[in-house]
Amino acid sequence: MTVRVGVLGAGFIGRIHALNLRRDDRVQLVGIADVVPRAAERLAAEVETAALGSLADLLDRGVDAVYVCTPNAQHVEPVVAALRAGIHVFSEKPMATTLRGAFEIREAARRARGVYQLGLNRRFARVYRFVKTLIDDGRLTPLLAQMKHNRGELQQPPWTGDPTITGGYLYETPVHLFDMGRFLFGDVAEVSGVARQSVYKELDGFVMLFRFASGVAASVTSVAHTSWFFPYERVEVYGPHQTAVTEELERASFSPGMRAQVEGIDCFQMPFEDKWGYVEEDRRFIDAVLGEAPPAVTAEDGYRATELVEAVYQAARSGAAVRLPLPEPA
Ligand SMILES: NC(=O)c1ccc[n+]([C@@H]2O[C@H](COP(=O)([O-])OP(=O)(O)OC[C@H]3O[C@@H](n4cnc5c(N)ncnc54)[C@H](O)[C@@H]3O)[C@@H](O)[C@H]2O)c1
Repeated sequence: MTVRVGVLGAGFIGRIHALNLRRDDRVQLVGIADVVPRAAERLAAEVETAALGSLADLLDRGVDAVYVCTPNAQHVEPVVAALRAGIHVFSEKPMATTLRGAFEIREAARRARGVYQLGLNRRFARVYRFVKTLIDDGRLTPLLAQMKHNRGELQQPPWTGDPTITGGYLYETPVHLFDMGRFLFGDVAEVSGVARQSVYKELDGFVMLFRFASGVAASVTSVAHTSWFFPYERVEVYGPHQTAVTEELERASFSPGMRAQVEGIDCFQMPFEDKWGYVEEDRRFIDAVLGEAPPAVTAEDGYRATELVEAVYQAARSGAAVRLPLPEPA
């Protein structure tokens, strides 16, 4: 069966997905839709499909699945509409920009005929797969961790500096890191820490402590105004005489014990869309649409990542530790 796919939002990430999908011979791209006609036309020409204006246009074309690649605050409405229309949905992160929005999507996904998968691509990035496999294979026992994911600026694209569109900085970049914490160490039981508002008109720097239900404790740092100075993304996981380290999405290494040889991977020469996990997440989404596997990042994962963002904002604003899970929206 060929999966008829449409892309909503023809910007940076819509283009990456469209190019990946075009290389998948199980997929037929039936349209690229954008509110800016020139954006839709440019990408549609590149991937040789139709330029359209809206989700309704994509539904009219009889899509089986849609990629929602619009800015953050414009995910809930098209995702819920597409799920209700019986269409499979891949949504870019964040799932939503409020806990209520995430709750609505999770409910819609539970009732939907189609599958829902969220674009938390780092789960498929080679460096994080390396660490996850060490943990799953029992070679690394995580006890403590140090996690960092910075941004250089909130200027590109221009809407990233507008919290009414992003939902706040935490929904823009740190949401990836928060989900990575859950992916590696399980659910978070409590968050605490401090945040500052320094350069932009919102909280733009966070130094937090996450306590996981598993007993792992992690320091979590994210600053929005670091000028893209390397290293801006790094995770260190400490076990009993063991250390695993990721450096950006380029390299990862593992010291399995004292006097043992350090192991590692170097993804430096790999194509960006592969080492960042986009190729794999798109392949896995089409697998799920074809019923070959469950979605690789679920609505529940998205809800928990949203809950973590909201808990960190609460903890940073109140100065008090916040326990999870948060009460569900009524
Ligand atoms: N997973 C990742 O690594 C990653 C990377 C970049 C962006 N993203 C996410 O992807 C989304 C898009 O980011 P981007 O960098 O591609 O932004 P972008 O500004 O480059 O592109 C967004 C596009 O959506 C269009 N658009 C806006 N509202 C629309 C609507 N209602 N209907 C149709 N089109 C609409 C815009 O005209 C624009 O062309 C954001 O939510 C962002 O957080 C994820």
